[in-house]
Amino acid sequence: MKKNCFKALFAAVMFLSCSAPQLRQDAIISGIAWFDDRGEEVNAHASCVVEENGVYYLFGEAHTDDNNEYKGINCYSSTDLINWKFENQVLGLQPDGLLGPGRVGERAKVMRSPLTGEYVMFLHTDDMKYMDPHVGYAVCDRIDGDYRFMGELNHGDSYIRRWDLSVFQDSDGTGYLLTHEGNIYRLAPDYRSVDSVLVEELVPGGEAPVMLKRAGRYYWTFSGKTSWERNDNFYLTATSLAGPWERKGLFCPEGKTTWNSQGAFALPVVAGLDTMFVYMGDRWSFPKQESAATYVWQPLTVGDGEISIPEFQSAWRVDFERAEWETVEPAIRRGAASSVFGKGEWEQTDEGFRSREAGVQLSATVKGRRIALFGISEPHSGYAKVTINDGEGTEVLSTIVDFYSQYRTEGLKLLSPELPRGKYQVTVEVLGSWAESYTKSGKHFGSDDSYVYVTDFGSVR
Ligand code: GLA
Repeated sequence: MKKNCFKALFAAVMFLSCSAPQLRQDAIISGIAWFDDRGEEVNAHASCVVEENGVYYLFGEAHTDDNNEYKGINCYSSTDLINWKFENQVLGLQPDGLLGPGRVGERAKVMRSPLTGEYVMFLHTDDMKYMDPHVGYAVCDRIDGDYRFMGELNHGDSYIRRWDLSVFQDSDGTGYLLTHEGNIYRLAPDYRSVDSVLVEELVPGGEAPVMLKRAGRYYWTFSGKTSWERNDNFYLTATSLAGPWERKGLFCPEGKTTWNSQGAFALPVVAGLDTMFVYMGDRWSFPKQESAATYVWQPLTVGDGEISIPEFQSAWRVDFERAEWETVEPAIRRGAASSVFGKGEWEQTDEGFRSREAGVQLSATVKGRRIALFGISEPHSGYAKVTINDGEGTEVLSTIVDFYSQYRTEGLKLLSPELPRGKYQVTVEVLGSWAESYTKSGKHFGSDDSYVYVTDFGSVR
């Protein structure tokens, strides 16, 4: 590795060029910020998607970059699962109570009761230390309307005191609530209470439950308990929700930490008799979740009693006519920087530029209508602030990118929203901080250093 540091001077450096052919860009790209119809980052974490009349509604946690206090549940819509329109903050901060100030509200999941036609949202509410878990619910007569928070979900005279949750609507319309540690509760037909317990404490240590069904067989996935840190998620399978459940193991290659994500939902896309499933996961980045946490959506292979995501698809789309998926070659030209210059200490390697010093900057001039940044993620990586200025010097984008991964991987770290075709200056600034979190027992997870490693700039012409 060459150690060629450069300090506070203009050092014009051309990056290695390799151009890709101009192809479609309508792709689900995992692990980078998604921008909505307003040009703002899609802010809907630990989400679910509900389809209605060919429109897909995405619900998820609105996060900030400060802490984990509940800010609301956002709703977006899309017809292709790629371009998202902001619809509404469907459930906001309540004046007090379970979703009032100083609480968290997580893993919102929505189902429509076939009996009442009402949309019911379930979510985990808690104190900021996760020591007061409750299952709350909210109702609405429109999918993207203003939901009314109803408080605790009852089971007879008692409440469900659980945290991570999800829901599942079976083929006969019966609704189920699933929680961490492997619990399944059957809901009353109006989905406003629990009427019985089907499975209890089957998966100690399991969080982030997700359920899907294909050809009469159920698949139930979990993450391990590592706070906001990713781990190798695993699954069980059964032909009846009540069990017996067979433990199957991982559904992504070992050590890939579920392609750097934690499961949130599995969306069936149906065309006639065919169904495909979209795995929806979160690449958390605590505490800068609003800017730096991203979504990992992958085609999930389901069949013969097994599920898997054998390879990471960096860009792909759903074929809605056939309930299948295809890879997409994004039209991003690498090596697009006409000049690159650094401010502060950067170590130059064969692959790019690397630094951990807060405040140092790397800037590049790039032409195009979408601007891309590539980098290397490593276990000691941290946050970079990335800004894009147009030819007049006006800032058109500013966000934070998290470079952390438990395994080394090179790839796209940012792709700007569509901009007027022109010349832009991209600046990557090392923030000197990183994503990390602690479990309730104080165990540390996440990165431990602030490295930012830039390998390339690219653009869509
Ligand atoms: C786990 C849960 C998340 C959230 C975090 C908080 O990752 O799955 O929903 O509660 O813990 O640490």
